[in-house]
Order: sequence, then C-alpha cells, then structure tokens
Amino acid sequence: MSNSFKDKKVVTLAYGCQMSERDAETLTEISAQEGYSQTNDLESADLIIINTCCVRESAENKILGKIGELKRLKEKNPRLKIAVSGCMVQQPGALERLQHRAPHVDIWTGTHNLSEFGCFIRQAEEDQKVAEVWKEPGPALEATPLAEKGKLKANVNISYGCNNFCTYCIVPYVRGRERSRKPEDILREAQKLVESGCKEITLLGQNVNSYGQDLDMTYDFADLLKKVDEIPGLLLIRFLTSHPKDLSDKLIETVAAGKHLCPHFHLPIQAGSNEILKRMNRKYTREYYLERIKKIREIIPESSITTDIIVGFPGETEEDFEQTLDIIDKVHYSQAFTFMYSKRSGTPAAKMKDQIPLDVKKRRLQQLMDLQNDQSLEWRKKMLGKNYDVLVEGPSKSNPDRLTGRTAGNELVVFPGDPALKGSLVKVHMMEAHSWTLLGEIIKG
Ligand code: 5AD
Ligand code: SF4
Repeated sequence: MSNSFKDKKVVTLAYGCQMSERDAETLTEISAQEGYSQTNDLESADLIIINTCCVRESAENKILGKIGELKRLKEKNPRLKIAVSGCMVQQPGALERLQHRAPHVDIWTGTHNLSEFGCFIRQAEEDQKVAEVWKEPGPALEATPLAEKGKLKANVNISYGCNNFCTYCIVPYVRGRERSRKPEDILREAQKLVESGCKEITLLGQNVNSYGQDLDMTYDFADLLKKVDEIPGLLLIRFLTSHPKDLSDKLIETVAAGKHLCPHFHLPIQAGSNEILKRMNRKYTREYYLERIKKIREIIPESSITTDIIVGFPGETEEDFEQTLDIIDKVHYSQAFTFMYSKRSGTPAAKMKDQIPLDVKKRRLQQLMDLQNDQSLEWRKKMLGKNYDVLVEGPSKSNPDRLTGRTAGNELVVFPGDPALKGSLVKVHMMEAHSWTLLGEIIKG
C-alpha cells in the first residue's frame, strides 16, 4: 500500500471485448490497493488508465485519439500519471512506435504482466517512466481480489488466450495460447463475488468450449458450469464465447438441465460461405454450423442465439456474401455483432490477395445490418405477450423513472417499478418491442 496520504483518484477507460474490460477492472482494483479511489472525472484524476484493444483498426484509431487528448490534461496537471495497457501495446513491435507517438504516457504495459501494475504505479509516482511488456504470460492473477465489491453483475475469466488462429485475428498474438484457470480458483472467485452481493456471473473465455483441454484433467466446460450452478445465491449464469467447432451436445444438455444457466449461446459464424470459412481457418462448414443450431433449438427451443459476422474478408465475392445473408435468414439470431474486415498486421489474412475495397465493405455491412435489424425486431416481437424472468439492475439510464434489466436470453428490458427491487428477479410481461429493447410490466407471482 502506498504511504501517500493524499486522496488520490483514478479514471479507467476500458476499450474492447469483455476480456479487456475484465483486465481493466483488475487494474482498477490494483490501483485501489495503491490508494486510488474511482472517479469518472478526468479533470480531477491523478491516474488515468487506458486499457486498449487492437482487434480492428477503428478501435486503435479511437484510442490513439484519446491518448492524444490526454496531453492537454497532463499540461494542466503535471502530477497526473497516464498508464496505457492491454492488447494494443502487446502487439509485436508496437511499443516503440507508441512511445514515440505519445511521450506523455508514464506507464506502458501489455496483457501478460497485470500482476506488476502496483509496482509500476509506485515507480510512476516517483516520476519514473515505465515500459514493460512481457512476451510470455506472467503468473496468473489468482491472488488479486479482483472486481469491485458489491457489484450485481460480474465477469469471471475461466481461460486466457486462444489457440485457434483464425487468419484475420490478432488475439492469439496479443493474448497468447489458451490457459485454463483451475476449476477451484474459478469457483472460489465466483463464491467470493456472491458473498459480496453479486447475483449474475458471466464466465469468460475466447473459446469457453475448449476449457480445460490444456489442464491435466477429465473435466470440461459443461462440468464447470454444473459446479457454478450449485453456488447458492447466484441467479443468472452466462458464458461467452462459444466456438462452434467445439460446441458439444453435453454442453447444450447441461444448459437445458441447469437451474440458473442462461439459455443463450454466443456462437460467432463469422461468414456464411464455406470457401471463406476455410480461408478464415474456422474449422467448420455452414452445414455443420446449421446442424449445431438445429441441435440447440431441438434441446432448448427458447434459446437465444447471437453471433459475430465479418464482411469483406479478402476474396469475399458477392456470392459468398449472399451465403452470409442466407445464414441470417435461416438462423434467426436475436442479435448479431457485425464488422467490416480490418487488416491486422502479422495475421495471415493481412497478406492475402483480393483485399476488398472499403466502399464494397461498407455497402455489405449496411445490407447485413438492415437484414439483422429486421430479424432482431422480429425476435423481440415473438416475445410479446409472454412473461420472462428479469434481474433488476436499477433505474434506466435514458429514463430514470423506469427500471432496467436483462432476460436470461440477454435481451434488454425496460419497465416501471420500485428502485428498491434492484438485485431481485422479477417476472416481466412483454408489451412492446423495439430493435434493441423491450418494454414491459412487472407481474406478480
Ligand atoms: N476485422 C474485423 N473483425 C474482426 N474480429 C476479429 N478480428 C477482426 C478483424 N481483423 C471480430 C470477430 C470476432 C469479434 C470479437 O471481432 O467477429 O468474433
Ligand atoms: Fe480470434 Fe478466432 Fe481466437 Fe476468436 S477463436 S479470439 S476470432 S483467433
């Protein structure tokens, strides 16, 4: 613990996926151990942490802009320390380029040495510049007390890294090979969170379905889910992401039989054409994927299925793209996260011929989004007139007179009610459907 007696404040800006968000929470928690309390006000901060993402160029540009803006704050408040961490810094060769571009940053650190962050803060407080990016994963953060106490919803990592090497993706290069945490460590963390008031947990991994394959045990993700489901006091258990190639019948059956396991599968298809799937190194065909969807719906008809899709992967023809639209028509996703392919240096796809022009990517993305928006609305309309369990998260940000929460399928619902209901599971009758939300009414019983 730092011996400074000043009331120090930290702002954490988190970019990117849930894994990156989870890392940002850990860094915030470590800064709390060093005496920093959280604020949202950049002007009054003594430490600003930017946890970065590099999965697409657009994310990187946004973050670089933000780091640039902070220079002005540093000029106003020379005591301010700025820390930049995460995937962007971890990219091979990135550190020097970033340091040159943003000399006002005090701490540069990657994804592998989160456990050192307290020490880095102390060095920066003594006006030393820190730039440490480990090439290999460091010790796991089992000892860190992790996310803020008293949160209603929390993310828990079950594994780090990825072994899949999809040809467009930078993740295996910046987060390393897949390392599963031990079941007992995961369960202990979940238990602690519940004791501090948490009601909903999302288990996170780049591919939760391959959990445990690197550990010396015959214990898989479905077994882990069963154990988490036994923790008393947990109301909702979610998980992501599921790589389709590893989605087992056992997992679907486990979710079906679970008490608090949410029937929601985030199953990225990425592309609908077999040729593109092959070039992406996804290791499944559209036929196999559709068979998995059929299986989910056979066993859990009410399952909500969401996906990620990339348009404009190198070599994608109009016919290939039509195959992606066709998948959207066939699956009926409740939601899809859609992206234009972004060239990531160091990945195999960056060197592929037939890169797609930006205007074609933009047009395909729009077409895809238009189709999916109709599908999302249709999905929500099917929920009207029915009752769903919703965990009340508190007043809605856009309308503080209403409450908000999510269904087991992760659909966002807004409804009138007493703010004291925060943290309880209520039954909501769905009355109105919009593209992104549902409006409902609490019913008794
Ligand atoms: N370009 C566009 N989208 C990408 N994703 C990953 N890498 C890229 C890239 N180079 C998307 C995938 C993944 C999601 C998290 O981000 O759809 O599932
Ligand atoms: Fe990237 Fe593929 Fe791993 Fe997902 S499964 S993180 S898309 S390499």
